[in-house]
Amino acid sequence: MALLPILKYPDERLNKVAEPVTVFDGDLKQLAADMAETMYEAPGVGLAATQVNKHIQLIVIDVSETKDQLQVFVNPKVTEVSDEIKCWEEGCLSLPGIYEKVKRPAAVTVVAQDLDGNTFETKCDELLAVCIQHEMDHLKGKVFVDYLSHLKKSRITHKLQKQKLEEAKKAKEEAAKAS
Ligand code: NI
Repeated sequence: MALLPILKYPDERLNKVAEPVTVFDGDLKQLAADMAETMYEAPGVGLAATQVNKHIQLIVIDVSETKDQLQVFVNPKVTEVSDEIKCWEEGCLSLPGIYEKVKRPAAVTVVAQDLDGNTFETKCDELLAVCIQHEMDHLKGKVFVDYLSHLKKSRITHKLQKQKLEEAKKAKEEAAKAS
């Protein structure tokens, strides 16, 4: 098990489109286990392989309060969407500290494979519906701020870049203190 570095927006690698998984081997299981560990550690409720710079259609999700209901989706496809639209405040491990309202179908049916390649179907509603749609967007190279206005998006990019500079400055100061 290992913690994986998470790509931070606006890293261009977050815009890559993920390839379908064709080989269901030990490496895939290891990656899913590492992604789960990374998600729990963050902590977050979902993580797409894209976010750890692996461009394959693999998602881990745990929306339970007890954090013991891991769900793994390989090659997920939405087969049904509800007419009802819901607005949730979303966040993302690739955009730390950013929370914005996004409208999406309130419920979706997803067909996916498990880590052994077996196909299953899940009806998702509430937080799971939001989460699976958010993570599937990652696999298409899309992040939730892409739903926002251009102005709002550029404000967020600016804020994250400032955060990054401040973190780098702090790390430099600490290194200077230590030497
Ligand atoms: Ni995300």
